[in-house]
Parts: sequence; C-alpha cells; structure tokens
Amino acid sequence: MRYHGAQIAAGCMRIYDPGPLSLRASADGLGLATPDSRPEEATMNIDTARLAGNPDKSDTAGAAMNPDVGALPLAPKNPLPRLQQMMCLRTFHTGAETLRDAGGAVTRLELAPKWLMPPVVIATSPQGGRDILGRSDAFVDKTVIHHEVRHLFGANLFDLTHEPWLPRRRALQPVFTKQHVRAFGGHMAQAAEMVASTWVDGADVDLDAQCRRLTLRALGRSVLGVDLDQSADSIAEPLRVGLGYVADRALRPLRAPRWLPTPARRRARAAAATLRQIAADILHTCREDPTRDAPLVHALIAATDPATGQGLSDEAIRDELIVFMLAGHDTTSTALTYALWALGRHIEMQDKVRAEVAGIGDRELTPADLSRLGYTTQVLHEALRLCPPAAAVGRTAMRDINVDGYRVPAGTTLIFGTYAVHRDPALWEHPLVFDPDRFSPQNSAGRDRWQYLPFGGGPRSCIGDHFAMLEATLALATIIRRIEIRSTEDDFPLAVPFTTVAAGPIPARVYAHTNRSA
Ligand code: HEM
Repeated sequence: MRYHGAQIAAGCMRIYDPGPLSLRASADGLGLATPDSRPEEATMNIDTARLAGNPDKSDTAGAAMNPDVGALPLAPKNPLPRLQQMMCLRTFHTGAETLRDAGGAVTRLELAPKWLMPPVVIATSPQGGRDILGRSDAFVDKTVIHHEVRHLFGANLFDLTHEPWLPRRRALQPVFTKQHVRAFGGHMAQAAEMVASTWVDGADVDLDAQCRRLTLRALGRSVLGVDLDQSADSIAEPLRVGLGYVADRALRPLRAPRWLPTPARRRARAAAATLRQIAADILHTCREDPTRDAPLVHALIAATDPATGQGLSDEAIRDELIVFMLAGHDTTSTALTYALWALGRHIEMQDKVRAEVAGIGDRELTPADLSRLGYTTQVLHEALRLCPPAAAVGRTAMRDINVDGYRVPAGTTLIFGTYAVHRDPALWEHPLVFDPDRFSPQNSAGRDRWQYLPFGGGPRSCIGDHFAMLEATLALATIIRRIEIRSTEDDFPLAVPFTTVAAGPIPARVYAHTNRSA
C-alpha cells in the first residue's frame, strides 16, 4: 500500500476521531452516502451546535484522552523540486496525484517563507478527507482562494467564513432539500428535450458545448427566471475570466497589491460587475413581478434564518445568485458531458439506461421519476468519480489538528485531493475503468464514505447536490431515450481553471434512436 506508513501512524498515534460531524454524515455515516441515499431528515436537521463550531463531543472526549496533538509528527516534506510542487498545486486534479506518489498520502509543501505563504498540506486518503472536511469550524475554515472569490464576487455561501456563513446556510438549506428542489428541478428534462431536438440524425456534435447550452438553459429557467439561450456567453465568459483570475492570484506566493490596476485585474473586475448587474436585474424583475416563473429566486426572497427569523438583504440575494451561477453551471455541465461521452464508448451501458427510461413510458420525465432511474443515477455517480467537477477542496487549519496521523500546525493551508482519491488504485479496483456497477447498492455497501466525495463532505458540503443530481439524471435519461451517442474520441481531456472542465471539444456522432433501430 502506498501510504502504509501514514496508516500505521494513524493507527498507532491517532489522538482523536472527529466522528461524524457533517450535516449529513451524522445521519448516513454507514456505507456510501450518495446524494440520493441520504435520508431527507438528515438534510433538514441542521445541528446548530455543531455548525456553530462548538467542539463536538468526540473532539472533547478525544482531546481529554489524548491532549497532545503535539506528539504527532509533522507530515513528511514532499521531495519534489519546488517548481514542480508549485505547478502541481496549480494543477488541481493530477497535481495531487503526482505529489502523493512522490510524498505519500499526507504530504507537506513549503513553497516560500511562512510570512509570505503558509505551508500547504495535501491529503489524499479517506481519513484525510474526514479529518479536513468533517470538522467543525473551531478546527478549519475557508482559504485564501475563498477570500479572493469573496473579494471579487461578493459574500456568498461558498466563500463566507464560518460565522457569517452559518445564518445564511440555515436560511437557504430548506430551499435545497430533496423535496423542495423537485419544485424547480424539472426544467432540465425540457432543456434536454429542446437541445437534443436540434441534433440532426447522423451529425457530429460537441457534447461539451451542447451540455453547457443545456445546463445554462435549465439554470436560466429555474434559478434565474430568464431565458439565457441568446445570452449564454454573457454569463459563461465573465465566470471563466473571474474564476481564472481568482485561482491564479490565490496560489501565487507573491501577489500584487489590490490597488494596482493590472490588465488581468481590470478584466476580472469588469467580469464581476457584469455578473452583479445580471443578478441585480434578475432580482429586480422578480420583485416587480412575483408571478414570474423563477422559483429559486422567489425562494431566496422568502428564505429566513429559522433561528432568528431574519431574511436576506437584496445585496445578499444578488451575491447568492452569482454563486449559484458560479457553482451550478460548469459543474453540472461537466458531469453530464462526461457521462454522455462515457456512454458513447460503452454501448451496452447506454442500452441499459435506455431500457430503464423506456420502462417509464413516452411522456416527459419529471422529478417524480427519479426513483425509477437507479442505473442512470449510477452512471452519473461513476462520471463524478472519474471526473469530479471539484477536483480538490481547500481549508485553513484554525488550530493544530491531526490529519491522518500527522500534526498540522494552525495556519496551514489544507487541500483534500478529491480527484486523486477517486482514482486511487489502493481504494478502487481498476480505478480507470468506467463501471457504473460500482455504485449498485450491493457494491456500495460498506464502502468508506470519505473515499467518494464529489459534493464534498462535512458542514460545508455542496448545498446544490440534490438539485444537481436531479437535473443531470433527468437530462441524461431524456437524451439517451431518443438519441444514440457514439463518442468519436477515446480521451476526455481535462483542464481545471477552477472547476474541472473539458479541455476541448468532446466530439460525438448522434443518431435518432428510432432511425437506428429501424
Ligand atoms: C455536479 C454538480 C456539482 C458538484 C460536483 C458540486 C460540488 C461542490 C463541492 C465539492 C462543494 C464543497 C466545496 C468545499 O468544501 O469547499 C460545493 C459547495 C457548494 N455548492 Fe456545489 N456542486 C455542484 C452543483 C451545485 C449546484 C447546482 C449548486 C447551486 C445551485 C451548487 C452550490 C454550491 C454552494 C452554494 C456551495 C457552498 C456551500 C457552503 O459552503 O455552504 N453546487 N459544491
């Protein structure tokens, strides 16, 4: 085993087990937690004490038994040359694999003097994920990347530090429960139907461009209450410019002062201003017209913190709308593109999806059909394993903590390498083979839930997971029902400017299904 040493250290020296601190992990701590396998009560039941960062019982008990985190060794320093470490850090997906292969499942980078850039610890084991993500805020909080996102795009659920984040998450959580997203998640089937209907029998299409179009259309309808067909670029392009700038700037040891008007900063600020304007216009339109079909915007307007009864200000709603565009567009689109591409290479799996949808009949699919699309959901889980849209997630250690048997000093930047863990041969049999059957209920039983984290884990896990899975499953089933896909390339090149996206067009030939079988 590659990280045998660390595991021995974890076994012998673990000073406490943070236990199931997550919003959801507490309820589904056994076996694999998939978005659909979570009991709804778990999503609804926000444990305020835990989210508020009060030390969990297990923390306190563990600390009492083993008060000395200081007894643990520091994570081993990564042996790769500094320049290569730097490049790995910026390559969110494969970078963590390279660092792990050279330095183990918990590895430390010191890229600059501490006063210039804090040390970075990369963890690529399930226990590392649990130790980093499954903690309350007394131990970890957001990072410099989130700080940069906040500075550019405003304060929102994704980038807020714990204290201001908590009431907002409490207010928005009910909007995103499995039951509630059904009210605004249905648009995806219509969008998929519409996009697929423009494909000519036997034509070549770029799956990536098509899925972006489709996702943006559904997002426009459900999240924003506007039709984005004609103005897709007005959202996608500023998002790309802004996020690219944020990631580049955050990972530099030396950052130019904010007042310096560099060309990149000017472009990023203009991009953020564009998005702010779009979000403000949408909010204005919905306030003016309460009958407008924009269920998510109306839900945000109506949302209140159950603890205080406080609603969201217009500025907060505007900034949240931006994060929903940011977090909900590329991610869902990439998952869908990857799933379609993979099915285009595995015709027998494609037929299985088609047979499953055929069982539902010929009408338009609705959120209520989700429970009958088990295999289609497995296909998406497998796509999210091999191509996690969030290739890595970051935190900052707020105090000295134990990460998989190593001491991580306060102030260290922590990175959990989701992509590396999802493809680790020590955790998955034939990890590079696309095999949706891994996610059948039988094969998932007993799997460590911290080895599969496409939506993150712990209190800051994705709030949009049910929405994303609902949308992507309905879209996949709707497309495969009427179209036969043949992928014409064996590779799916990836790039990670911020989230994981296709690095170029993903070509496929499409056939109307009825014509093919005639
Ligand atoms: C396949 C699609 C998606 C994937 C793989 C995904 C993944 C993730 C991950 C890994 C995180 C945790 C980041 C961290 O721990 O720092 C996250 C957070 C978040 N996601 Fe998603 N996401 C998806 C779709 C969506 C959608 C559709 C929305 C909203 C409409 C959304 C909204 C958010 C928000 C607001 C957060 C921050 C939550 C918080 O800190 O309270 N995501 N997402």
